[in-house]
Amino acid sequence: MARFVQNRWYQFAWADEIADGAVLTRTVLDIPMVAFRTDAGKMAVLDNRCPHRFAPLSEGKREGDTIACPYHGLVFNTAGQCVRNPHGAATSTLAVASFPVLERHKAVWIWVGQQEPDENLLPDLSFIDAAPETAQLRLHTAVQANYELLADNILDLSHADYLHASSLGSGFNTRAKSTVEEHADHFSIAWRSDSDDAPPAFNLESPAKLWTEVDWYAPALMVLRAGGHPVGKPERGIDTLNLHNMTPETLTSTHYFSCNTRNFLIDDAAFNAVLREQLIHAFQVEDKPMIEKVQRQMGTPDLWSLGPKMLPIDKGAVLARRRVARLIEAAE
Ligand code: FES
Ligand SMILES: [Fe+2]
Repeated sequence: MARFVQNRWYQFAWADEIADGAVLTRTVLDIPMVAFRTDAGKMAVLDNRCPHRFAPLSEGKREGDTIACPYHGLVFNTAGQCVRNPHGAATSTLAVASFPVLERHKAVWIWVGQQEPDENLLPDLSFIDAAPETAQLRLHTAVQANYELLADNILDLSHADYLHASSLGSGFNTRAKSTVEEHADHFSIAWRSDSDDAPPAFNLESPAKLWTEVDWYAPALMVLRAGGHPVGKPERGIDTLNLHNMTPETLTSTHYFSCNTRNFLIDDAAFNAVLREQLIHAFQVEDKPMIEKVQRQMGTPDLWSLGPKMLPIDKGAVLARRRVARLIEAAE
């Protein structure tokens, strides 16, 4: 039984997390993997378990486009084929899995599934390429919770009014109520108001026109646009575009990749550094502990098995979970 959505691009890392000559190990969809760049600059991602005794290839020697097992010396190329066996023939059965890689939008994506990789399935994230480095913050955070719980957190932004009451909460997300638009490959959920109190972190005069819009793509990639301007003063507005992308590590742990971009103070590196600390703090102190506690309280990754009582704010979460379940069923 497939435990995760197949035939999708999963974000493995931000490209700058993998230094030239270094390896990066990460478990994705329960599979321990190793990534490295060849001398020619090509990114490779392999199963990090040698087929002989499952030693971590990541601890072996890298040479050109090969990596040698540190235990008994089998050598593998970027396609996962064994190209040298000091103990006999380098047969095709000695291969390790190699994952198709796409480097796009400053990230490394791997294709997981039996079908041919389809670049069209990667959503357009060109806002990441367009934003200057001084107006963007890319983060990777390990969270001990199921990826769908983390998607729920973005798909129900009313939580900002309670969990982030002093920074992102103004009551707007609770009062605005969400509207949903369904599309074949994604859905959009939005909270909009022509006049409400701006969240403190927006630093805007109230009342303000406000918008929060999330585009969700399977299995848990979300682009969030949030901004506003004082009523009648669009020239004093702010707008932000943010990636929130959850790559399952296991069913109860997640690689949370985020990228925040903004349209104000875009050349201000000092402001960027301050914002970075604020964002890390808000997530580490508020979202992450709460979601990890929820996961521990649940004791299972399967929300439905616990019979949760649903609220109108769960519209997005229900839609996402339904689509994910359908895709997993389709792969079985
Ligand atoms: S464990 Fe890799 S060659 Fe033996
Ligand atoms: Fe939050």
